[in-house]
Amino acid sequence: MSKRIDIKDLNVYYGDFLAVQDVSLRIEPRSVTAFIGPSGCGKSTFLRTLNRMHEVIPGARVEGSVLMDGDDLYGPGVDPVNVRRQVGMVFQRANPFPTMSIKENVLAGVKLNDRRISASAANELAERALRGANLWEEVKDRLDKPGSGLSGGQQQRLCIARAIAVQPEVILMDEPCSALDPISTLAIEDLINDLKNDYTVVIVTHNMQQAARVSDRTAFFNIAGTGKPGRLIEYNDTDKMFSRPEVQATEDYVSGRFG
Ligand SMILES: Nc1ncnc2c1ncn2[C@@H]1O[C@H](COP(=O)(O)OP(=O)(O)O)[C@@H](O)[C@H]1O
Ligand SMILES: [Mg+2]
Repeated sequence: MSKRIDIKDLNVYYGDFLAVQDVSLRIEPRSVTAFIGPSGCGKSTFLRTLNRMHEVIPGARVEGSVLMDGDDLYGPGVDPVNVRRQVGMVFQRANPFPTMSIKENVLAGVKLNDRRISASAANELAERALRGANLWEEVKDRLDKPGSGLSGGQQQRLCIARAIAVQPEVILMDEPCSALDPISTLAIEDLINDLKNDYTVVIVTHNMQQAARVSDRTAFFNIAGTGKPGRLIEYNDTDKMFSRPEVQATEDYVSGRFG
């Protein structure tokens, strides 16, 4: 598990609108890469191209390539459903299926992928995923209760358990803590730190302290103005991005002078 992603010359469109321009970036396995930048600069758009979620929007498309350990996710004959199995995603708002139990939520993606598994194997998989998401101890006595009965932070960890139950290579997270209180946020950050032992993790965050705490590398995106495309401005080790950035705009952003 855990793969390297090489993005080459990527342009991302919504119809005629070029939302993200000319991004080339290498995302290393077994590490956390953070995307930062002001609202509207294309962080979410770019993130969604990494598991082919972008193209579900009518008119949305990309140019360029996204290689995962050398294989182009946009190559001919590649099934986007299979890409999304390998590259899981966790969203800003935890979105457990409200009518499903905790266990059913964890296994929801596994069933969708139609892997036929026995009841005992399903239980083991649910436990492994919940342990992997640091949630097992809190829910082991109520696996058949609705997922919607959990706290916000627990629901977000449930969504992470659901993402890892399908055994992906990569986990994408789009502002996973933005709806959470500080304690739940720290629980997710601890978890992100554990996840990088097994997965390639990419996180979008508007919280620069969070990027500094959890990521190994940071990519700073920016836009020149409304209607202009987002661009990658600087990409480097997180320590360097926050202490000695090479580009003035990065310095201005990480020091809080704009955005
Ligand atoms: N579904 C969509 N259709 C058309 N334009 C969109 C859509 N989603 C986002 N955009 C536009 O793409 C640009 C980047 O948005 P987004 O990726 O959400 O930025 P960020 O996540 O950095 O705040 C913005 O101009 C936004 O209005
Ligand atoms: Mg966003």
